[in-house]
Amino acid sequence: MEQTSVRTHWSSRWAFMLVTIGSAVGLGNIWKFPFMTGTNGGSAFVLVYLACIAAIGVPLLMAESMLGRRGQSNPVGTMRSLADEAGASRAWQVIGLIGILGSVLILSFYSVVAGWVLDYTLRAVEGFQGMDKAALGAAFGDLLASPGRLILWHSLFMVLSAGVVLGGVTGGIERANKIMMPALFAILLVLLGYGAVAADLSAAFRFLFHFEPQAISGKVVLAAMGHAFFTLSLGMGAIITYGSYLGREVSIPRTSLVIAGADTLVALLAGLSIFSFVFAQGLEPAAGPGLILQTLPLAFAGMPGGHVIGVLFFVLVVFAAWTSAISLIEPATSWLVEHLGWSRRAAVLSLAGLIWLLGIAVALSFNAWEGFKIFGLGLFDLFDALTSKFLMPVAGLLIAVFTAWVMKREHVREEIGLSGGAFALWFTVVRYVSPVAILLIFLHVIGLLG
Ligand code: TRP
Repeated sequence: MEQTSVRTHWSSRWAFMLVTIGSAVGLGNIWKFPFMTGTNGGSAFVLVYLACIAAIGVPLLMAESMLGRRGQSNPVGTMRSLADEAGASRAWQVIGLIGILGSVLILSFYSVVAGWVLDYTLRAVEGFQGMDKAALGAAFGDLLASPGRLILWHSLFMVLSAGVVLGGVTGGIERANKIMMPALFAILLVLLGYGAVAADLSAAFRFLFHFEPQAISGKVVLAAMGHAFFTLSLGMGAIITYGSYLGREVSIPRTSLVIAGADTLVALLAGLSIFSFVFAQGLEPAAGPGLILQTLPLAFAGMPGGHVIGVLFFVLVVFAAWTSAISLIEPATSWLVEHLGWSRRAAVLSLAGLIWLLGIAVALSFNAWEGFKIFGLGLFDLFDALTSKFLMPVAGLLIAVFTAWVMKREHVREEIGLSGGAFALWFTVVRYVSPVAILLIFLHVIGLLG
């Protein structure tokens, strides 16, 4: 059992809520959610995404926080001590290992996208005035075609992220979130207000919430489920790790609801404001990963006060990405420190170095290595699909099974802090609904079910 007694804890329950919202709210909400909504048919995707958040996301967010707090260790150590406690096989440690592998893969493309955003932050400072649709399309194309710029920004983002994790749990992670998260919410409100008065909010509303169940397909469902995992930072040990720094006095169900609610709200608000600009300017909602970079600057170029709004927007996205990236480094860091006895410094620097190298390969997959494909996908798309559509749901399934079938029910009840009907409801969802939903979606996609 590792260092249970000397383990650092968050300074308050607000701190846990803030850092976990910081982890959840990221490029997933502001970059990925709008572009996936745009390429997966709008409201059909939103509907399934919301259903997945409710039926799989929130229950698993509670389960993961609960595992972390009970295990008081890194994702691998937590799973080992909980497996021991339940008299089960130590093979359950694989949950932690999947998380560490997945986090490394995610950050290697996440950091490249964050690099795009850094590049556009600088451009926003210079101003997008005078650029039209064609010029902006070409500008994004030029960025992707330039390995030097992609690698430079990716490197800077890795330095920023590793820098915070080096500062430790309270001195680095907590402090960074306490500055960036309130700023993020303030900027988002300004943008939304602006979208409401200056752009086409009602068209955006129709696109996101028009009820259209016939547009739902297997592909849309898998994409939406994967995104629900991604946006709540589930399945990759991040929540287990943050939960392990959590004090006894905190209510896991209540904080989980606040975290999931805030994350969903930010995605929907970001989607509304982004699509209200897209429709006001007659742009293409299905533009793909470049959506926010090709469409929003056009809106910024054409609106009064657009210069300031543009800078604010990109700063918002950088903050969101930064507080999430931290949570992709911390789980593996705590594992290296607690299992292998490395110093935090050595752990963070080697992890960041590894991710940096992989990220360079991802950056090159847009240009010099464009022809290199695995399963028909370039590295960027491959790492994204492998993590969101495979590793996260598999880890989520294992976490649900471990929580509701392997652990002693009394231990689960005591740790989660629910009783009566509320416990029965949550437990039933984790025992049956979430695993069956994940399995059905998988079976459907590999073609075993109609
Ligand atoms: N949730 C973050 C986002 O939406 C990304 C993220 C951070 C993440 N930590 C994670 C995703 C752990 C999966 C697992 O941008």
